[in-house]
Amino acid sequence: MATSAVAIIFAQKKGILYMAVSVFAQSLLQWHSESNSRILPWKEEKDPYKIWLSEIILQQTRAEQGLPYYVKFISKYPTVFDLAAAPEGEVFKLWQGLGYYARCRNLLFTARAIVAQWQGVFPQTYTELLTLKGVGEYTAAAIASFAYDLPHPVIDGNVYRVLSRYFAEPTPINTPEGKKVFTALANKVFDAQHPAAYNQAIMDLGAVVCKPKQALCNLCYLSDHCKAFNTDQVDQYPLKLQKIKVKERFFSYYVFLHKDQVYIQQRTHKDVWQDLYEFWLSEGPAPAALSSLLADEQFVLEYRQNIFHYKQRLTHQLIRSDFSLVRLKRIPALLKGPGIWINKSEIHDYSFPKTIVSFLEEIPYF
Ligand code: ADE
Repeated sequence: MATSAVAIIFAQKKGILYMAVSVFAQSLLQWHSESNSRILPWKEEKDPYKIWLSEIILQQTRAEQGLPYYVKFISKYPTVFDLAAAPEGEVFKLWQGLGYYARCRNLLFTARAIVAQWQGVFPQTYTELLTLKGVGEYTAAAIASFAYDLPHPVIDGNVYRVLSRYFAEPTPINTPEGKKVFTALANKVFDAQHPAAYNQAIMDLGAVVCKPKQALCNLCYLSDHCKAFNTDQVDQYPLKLQKIKVKERFFSYYVFLHKDQVYIQQRTHKDVWQDLYEFWLSEGPAPAALSSLLADEQFVLEYRQNIFHYKQRLTHQLIRSDFSLVRLKRIPALLKGPGIWINKSEIHDYSFPKTIVSFLEEIPYF
């Protein structure tokens, strides 16, 4: 019997139609068992704590970059009890360099919630997993399938790419309709008999074979039925809705501190964030006016460069900000105005753009 790309294979045993598995899933699992040589320490793991930790680390982070952090965390905090009992400053220090500090904050919050509300035992259903802070649909599906063999397909960027190419699915992935279409497709081809292997296989295939650029189609077990491959259009997928043209801007913020005071200034000019407050700002390359000040030991007690980065998307602008912290011994003339020095405890009395709010939220000990 010839099979099509979406064909479901039915097997008959003693007159009973019992198994339904997609050709897609069959080829994927065959690749996984025969040729997937990607070695990662969380693969085949069954401990929900370790799976959860690896998935939080891997959100917005490539596996190769997340790997040393996973190893450090597991060795320092082998159980959820160890992590829950750790001082916040210590956990943040271990996280340093990974970015997106909200993940670290949620990690600690959730570890403590698991101990306090779940007696140290991770929830065992997809719906309960979703109630944990920092655990969305993707992470809940990963934990549910890897730890408990529950039939929930993971759906992330890798999955969108693999499915969009295999089915030459034209719906743009970055739209609500795309989310619906690809969720339905992911559920349709999913192998509910082998949730853990299937999910691991599709993530790995997306990472090492069906790569965003220079996909290795000649090695791919799925290429026979891959519509994009068979029409020479692999690089056209996944489709994305063209975004409006955005101007990119680079902001360097210097958070000047003197004793318990911090320097802020109001944005008065006709530009983004008019009337809101911010720290000392230089747009474009770091300003010459500051370089002699920063090198002057008379004034500077501590200078921590680029401790935080933030990307804020506005309708027509993408604003990339870097934050550096400068603790001063004395206030130089340069910083006598036009801004104001306020006590750190008063900072919430002022209105700031999201970029600054994120800094205030994410850097706990600024
Ligand atoms: N990225 C996120 N989770 C992953 C996993 N379990 N294996 C490989 N890459 C991943």
